[in-house]
Amino acid sequence: MENTGSSPIDSNESFNINESLVPVRDLKAASQRSISFDGLLQSPLILQEDLKEGCGGQLWPAGMVLSKYLLRQHRSSFINKTIVELGAGGGLVGLAVASGCHIGSQPVYITDQTPMLPLMETNIKLNGLSSIAAAAVLNWGEPLPDCIPKHPTIVLAADCVYFEPAFPLLLSTLNDLLGPESVCYFCFKKRRRADIRFMKQAKKLFDVDEIQNDPDAEFYRRENICLYTIRPKLERKRAQN
Ligand SMILES: C[S@@+](CC[C@H](N)C(=O)[O-])C[C@H]1O[C@@H](n2cnc3c(N)ncnc32)[C@H](O)[C@@H]1O
Repeated sequence: MENTGSSPIDSNESFNINESLVPVRDLKAASQRSISFDGLLQSPLILQEDLKEGCGGQLWPAGMVLSKYLLRQHRSSFINKTIVELGAGGGLVGLAVASGCHIGSQPVYITDQTPMLPLMETNIKLNGLSSIAAAAVLNWGEPLPDCIPKHPTIVLAADCVYFEPAFPLLLSTLNDLLGPESVCYFCFKKRRRADIRFMKQAKKLFDVDEIQNDPDAEFYRRENICLYTIRPKLERKRAQN
């Protein structure tokens, strides 16, 4: 049985996630989950969940979907790539990649705002991933920190589209972060009209493609979860080269 804490997980791990968007009055106690992504990880990840510093302290459905997609389709294509996760929360996606994909010796950088730093660090330690994962503070809309690679090849973002005032900040960070060779795997659950406007704006700035080759797609699209790649527009790539 995967769940070591009080949070419910059944055979459908992806969607049995509490995704409350409103502040929780009585915070559920911190707990740990054991997640194998339906057996895609031989040794399950142990993830501490703790909502006291914000909504990133729990697992989100798009994070589960993106992790499974990457473990299925990119297990061997990230070797020696520079990898940065945005809005990582407790680090679900980045740690799934660090743990289950062949990545070589470069660490996966899981990033979020300052209050999430201790949770990211705890989860790295809990899983013995300190040699191949590093936590850092990266605030969207602010200058990129020096400690993460410039123009990483792979950028990961799960459920980062949920708070409208942050949308321009996220677009600005994607714009700063993506270099000519970068690709961002971007997964989120469409909840409001504003989320659709976010994607329209993103499509003006970047080359955005819906990922088609995922056997799970029919299943999660029913839940309004979408999975895209985001790349710099071709003309920007030419100018950067
Ligand atoms: C809905 S949670 C998703 C967490 C995780 N990616 C997952 O899928 O489980 C969104 C995350 O974005 C982070 N976030 C929100 N605004 C941010 C900002 N301005 N800069 C950096 N991170 C931000 C939050 O702290 C939170 O951890």
